Amino acid sequence: MEDPNTDSHGIPEKIEELDSQQPKDFLPPSPPPTDENTSDTDDEKVEIPLPPPTHAPTEVLGIDLKTPDSHVPRDPRLIRLTGVHPFNVEAPLTDLFNEGFLTSPELFYVRNHGAVPQVSDDDIIDWKFTVEGLVEKPLTISLRRLMSEYEQVTCPITLVCAGNRRKEQNMVRKSKGFSWGAAGLSTALFTGVIMADVIREARPTRKARYICMEGADKLPNGFYGTSVKLNWVMDPNRGFMLAYKMNGETLRPDHGRPLRVVIPGQIGGRSVKWLTKLIVTDKPSDNWYHIYDNRVLPTMVSPEESANNPKWWTDDRYAIYDLSPNSAICYPEHEEQLCLAGASNTYRARGYAYSGGGRRITRVEISLDKGKSWRLADIEYAEDRYRETERNLFGGRLDMSWRESCFCWCFWSLELLTNELAEAKDIFVRAMDESMNIQPRDMYWSVLGMMNNPWFRVTIAHEGDYLRFEHPTQPALMPGGWMERVKKAGGNLANGFWGERLEGEDPVVPSEEQAKAISMVKDGLQNAISIDELRKHDKEDQPWFVVSGEVYNGTAFMKEHPGGAQSIISAAGLDSSEEFLAIHSETAKAMMPEYHIGSLDEAAKTALAEGETEIDQSGTPSEKFLNSKAWKKAILHGKRIVSWDTRIFTYKLEHPDQRLGLPVGQHLMVRLRDPATREAVIRSYTPISEITERGFMDMLVKVYFAESGGKGGKMSLAMDALPIGHFIEMKGPIGKFEYIGKGKCLISGTERFIKNFVMICGGSGITPIYQVFRAVIRDAEDKTECIIFDGNRLFEDILCKEELDVLLAGNEHRCKVLHTLTKGPEDWTGLRGRITAKLVQENYTRTDETLVLICGPEAMEKTMHKALLDDGWSDDQLMFF
Ligand code: MTE
Repeated sequence: MEDPNTDSHGIPEKIEELDSQQPKDFLPPSPPPTDENTSDTDDEKVEIPLPPPTHAPTEVLGIDLKTPDSHVPRDPRLIRLTGVHPFNVEAPLTDLFNEGFLTSPELFYVRNHGAVPQVSDDDIIDWKFTVEGLVEKPLTISLRRLMSEYEQVTCPITLVCAGNRRKEQNMVRKSKGFSWGAAGLSTALFTGVIMADVIREARPTRKARYICMEGADKLPNGFYGTSVKLNWVMDPNRGFMLAYKMNGETLRPDHGRPLRVVIPGQIGGRSVKWLTKLIVTDKPSDNWYHIYDNRVLPTMVSPEESANNPKWWTDDRYAIYDLSPNSAICYPEHEEQLCLAGASNTYRARGYAYSGGGRRITRVEISLDKGKSWRLADIEYAEDRYRETERNLFGGRLDMSWRESCFCWCFWSLELLTNELAEAKDIFVRAMDESMNIQPRDMYWSVLGMMNNPWFRVTIAHEGDYLRFEHPTQPALMPGGWMERVKKAGGNLANGFWGERLEGEDPVVPSEEQAKAISMVKDGLQNAISIDELRKHDKEDQPWFVVSGEVYNGTAFMKEHPGGAQSIISAAGLDSSEEFLAIHSETAKAMMPEYHIGSLDEAAKTALAEGETEIDQSGTPSEKFLNSKAWKKAILHGKRIVSWDTRIFTYKLEHPDQRLGLPVGQHLMVRLRDPATREAVIRSYTPISEITERGFMDMLVKVYFAESGGKGGKMSLAMDALPIGHFIEMKGPIGKFEYIGKGKCLISGTERFIKNFVMICGGSGITPIYQVFRAVIRDAEDKTECIIFDGNRLFEDILCKEELDVLLAGNEHRCKVLHTLTKGPEDWTGLRGRITAKLVQENYTRTDETLVLICGPEAMEKTMHKALLDDGWSDDQLMFF
């Protein structure tokens, strides 16, 4: 019940404050009666692991200031796995292990799909979530009520991301997930309410089977959500919780403040943070993140196959819930050295192990001979120490004596003889749980790279008097690890021998993919470039830009650049790796060594990463929306279905008076991220709305659906899937061509006057052509003549037909539009077949003041280019968009 006399809304932050500061009403009700022989006083003598000292970060890091998480203070030790934002991090493995059984909240791993919802201290206690769906009594429960009307419990729980150890999978073959090392797990004492108590109160109906959960984080494909089975939730042994504290303090923003689900023994992805809804259903969740995340598809399903065939994602057999047994070696550390001279006779190897579904790890085994023989390690189950006591901890009842399940990681250790280590090539660890589930020898690669749990291997290199140990990988893009070394030396990591070459075996021929990797650097060039030098070249004279840490001078290429000089100038002084790699062809990449002038020094790399503004958040909305140096967010406002595969998307700009700021004939870049992998997809588009329009802009997009055998268009599919109200990022303008009006064009900044346009296009290539054509027609004084050749397959593929007809009416004396179809219907009276140079010749007499504008699929542009040159046109008369 809400207490009108309570004036404090904050949940106390510190353990010591709990009893003294917590308003009476917040105190959980008295714990249920316990065994009369158990006196609390005696019991509290039992020592239980308590949280390590915590130093809650108070300052927002510079790197986060320009992101939507600019309200979240964080620990700089955390290793970022997906660039600056969203925040996906793990602690350095040794730091995590050294913290002991419980992890401090600032080092606890984080997996955020998007921005962290901002909840002010004052609002925490009034946070509400609903219980709805197949229930007799729908509920809306505030945190205040949750804390006062239900039994409060405290329990240690290890959360593990399903991607833990994924970097190893990515080394074997790139999966659709980012690279976690072996520290994608953490443990805390969670305080909250037993989820079953809340669900029971809502009284699920007979048909109820699942509990769907939803968080408050708005993502490109809707709110984050997933589901679990109702009978798991109701099973006391499984310990599902709704938690509002970790290690005795209010949840930190990254971990779901103020309320989250915590599911012991299952992958972290099911423990929904920032909880807003519990929906009781008869089917598993249809949330995008439930379907396209947290699955282990069969190993033969490639990324392409999974993209082309949705059936893999909707088959519930491949969804993952319980964790599998897993373990890692923490000591020896990666790159640890052991000096043999004068070393102690023994070395204590140590690490962690865990399993899922509450199953206890019953053995951990170590091998020094590649699995021919094994020895048993000692296991320390710190979690058991809590079973010996029963007490009130952090405002919740800690009572684990009755529960046999294991919800936490355990630590293993084994004393090894130093001279045995000196003889060995590697150390392996594997763990088994009480159901005799054992870690496999070989990796089970799958498209999302989840649940990776083969034997964990640390190699031993003998270097003089030293032994040097190497872990398999290092997290994120960090170099190092034996897998990288073996791969570079031509080893096949999937050969069943960790890529080692067997006697007589030839080195592996680099894969096609590796062989195709194109060098973008000048051979042997060693020139370190500082951030100051780079920043001196951030303007149009001598623009330098950075791709993958290498610096390029774009000056000599500005005139020829197919994307126009502006796009090079826009990248000047910045790291443009993502855009460059996303939109350039192999041919373009192969040209890069010519412009390569050096490599950023380490300080410059850090400075660039920290100072980079990915997204413009200057806060002062400008007159024009587009900014050529920063990505801006436009909100999807509406979607008009023009035909089965064509849409007009309306995007809302920053304010109703704002213009897009795109000159006629130019384009803008659009960026969307794959919600699962965070990989950026970037393409350029030309809007169809008037350039004078304010507040909104329209974009005509053809959606390339996956046909049998084909992949479908990554970008157009993602744009189509974006829910109304979600943002898309834009940057620009780009392009070497601009139409000023009355025959005046700018080509790479140079003026040219023309009298005629020949416009050749196919499919959605009509959009830039339409912009120019409309500008010509709309100006009554513009005498420029235009002929449009628009090639398509089917009649319904013709885009903007009505709009073109309207523009043409009354202007037939100087403009003509010819549509040609390769698969026209029988009653089609227009042209048939593809656009050819002959077709152009038959319908148009060339003059010296003609400019040909061409925009269409790559194959069409290439064919037309050759055909027109053969027909006597010259390159300076042709303009490809
Ligand atoms: N809940 C919401 N609302 N949004 C998210 O992005 N990520 C999930 C889960 N719950 C996520 C979420 C994943 S994949 C994991 S592994 C855990 O949260 C991570 O919890 P943590 O960040 O507190 O460690």
